[in-house]
Amino acid sequence: MDFSLTEEERLLRDTVRDFAAKELAPMAAHWDRTGEFPRQNLEKMAQLGLMGMLFPEEVGGAGTSMLSYVMALEEIAKACAATAVILAVHTSVGTMPIYLYGTPQQKSRYLEKLCRGEYLGAFALTEPQAGSDATKIRTRAKDNGDHYLVSGNKIFITNGGEADIYVTFVVTEPGIGHRGISCLLVDRDTPGFSIGAAEKKMGLNGSKTTELIFDNARVPKENLLGKPGDGFKIAMSLLDGGRIGIGAQGVGIARGAYEHALAYALERRQFDQPIANFQAILFKLADMATRIEAGRLLVYQAADLRDRGKPCSKEASMAKLFATDSAMWVANQAVQIFGGYGYCRDFPVERYFRDAKVTQIYEGTNQIQRMVIAKIINR
Ligand code: CAA
Repeated sequence: MDFSLTEEERLLRDTVRDFAAKELAPMAAHWDRTGEFPRQNLEKMAQLGLMGMLFPEEVGGAGTSMLSYVMALEEIAKACAATAVILAVHTSVGTMPIYLYGTPQQKSRYLEKLCRGEYLGAFALTEPQAGSDATKIRTRAKDNGDHYLVSGNKIFITNGGEADIYVTFVVTEPGIGHRGISCLLVDRDTPGFSIGAAEKKMGLNGSKTTELIFDNARVPKENLLGKPGDGFKIAMSLLDGGRIGIGAQGVGIARGAYEHALAYALERRQFDQPIANFQAILFKLADMATRIEAGRLLVYQAADLRDRGKPCSKEASMAKLFATDSAMWVANQAVQIFGGYGYCRDFPVERYFRDAKVTQIYEGTNQIQRMVIAKIINR
């Protein structure tokens, strides 16, 4: 595999790096502290073509590769991990399903608006009793003529309340396990659909996470994505791509924490010299840099397979597992290098530490990633 960048890829990465440094990094602590949703970022990212990166120009996208997408996500996450997850969910599990499985009518109704950033996408799978064991969802969609009546609750929905379209997994035929799950596109203003409470989280505070409430919500049958019973496989195939993006988010968080720690170690003096002179600190920095590069290579490998249309479930799970465990590990080392200052909100590394934690949990916990990898290597 050759990951040397083309001129176009280099230009894109540098443009996103510049945008993230100027527009996101200075505000990231504010969004974290206030929990304000950074909607203006969506408009700016739309102007740069980042809201529809993976989709062809004919449908309003930018037509870039998955490799370019993960490079962009890394740069964004390094500056503001909350903005990165808003974009990652919008792209890989909010817009991609319509691009891959939508009817021409669904595409013409939603795709261009999503790609241009006029609409924000969300993905609604998780329920109170069905997190890791996603086949156990209960949200029920009853056939009622030309529409479904949907009842149930979804939780932990990224972009909840901010999104315009919710890619929602429902049971259309109970009693037959995952084969009874279907996928519906739910508009924000669907009668009987409402947004529940927002979670108060440890980190990623600029990204909204809410409950969704379906109380006999009337979803037209034309909003069924794929065929009845296709839903679970649609969800799993999307998560393969989504997990690569979360891996990239992990690499970005780790790089942010590492770069702050490196700068601090060079400047902070103890025992009459910069602490970077001490092997105890240098070895930490060396291990941090190594894990970041290893994580990035796993993310690039999975993205490259996806670009070439090859199976990549195992590689996506490996990338997500390693890069996000590394984000947590690296952020922890960064706090340690900062010492007491690292534990204080006036310095940025404690935010990376809090933001890193959820990357080991969402888009499939890292224990689920190990299950996916184990199942494939054991065939
Ligand atoms: N692509 C397509 N189909 C797939 C697939 C894939 N990658 N993986 C599995 N399937 C199919 C299987 O072929 C099987 O179909 P058949 O029965 O027809 O053969 C079916 O799906 C069931 O698969 P398994 O038997 O492997 O199912 P399982 O119950 O043993 O395991 C699981 C499934 C991997 C544990 C799955 O439930 C899972 O990934 N759980 C984690 C849920 C998750 O990731 N949630 C994330 C929520 S979104 C989010 O977090 C976004 C955010 O906010 C950032």
